[in-house]
Amino acid sequence: MTLEGLEHIGIAVSDLEEALAFYEEAFGLKAESIVALEERNVRVAFLPLGNTKIELLEPIGEGALSRFLERRGEGLHHIALGVSDIHGSLERMKEMGIRLVDEVPRPGAEGGLVAFLHPQSTRSVLVELCEETSL
Ligand code: CO
Repeated sequence: MTLEGLEHIGIAVSDLEEALAFYEEAFGLKAESIVALEERNVRVAFLPLGNTKIELLEPIGEGALSRFLERRGEGLHHIALGVSDIHGSLERMKEMGIRLVDEVPRPGAEGGLVAFLHPQSTRSVLVELCEETSL
């Protein structure tokens, strides 16, 4: 498994527009895309930052993210690591006994494939693996 870099850092927010206004005003960062993931009940915005990005995630209904916000409030939600071979990486994680949230990669908000590792196995940090796939 080869890590290609820190793909993005995910931050849970309760109001995406307010958060976007803050990031623009405070840091001059602007969203390159805003996507609604209906099946996960989240809306996400990606803000490019150097060779990585900040992903702001807002719940648009009941789900894992709304529960996270109820329990812990706004804040750091996950880190996303870029990998070259997500299927091989997941196999390796499984062999190591790492608990997976996604046994099978799923389409990511920006295209490509993503899979989450369970924080129980990763020192309490939700880790997303991302593979950019060319169409
Ligand atoms: Co993410």
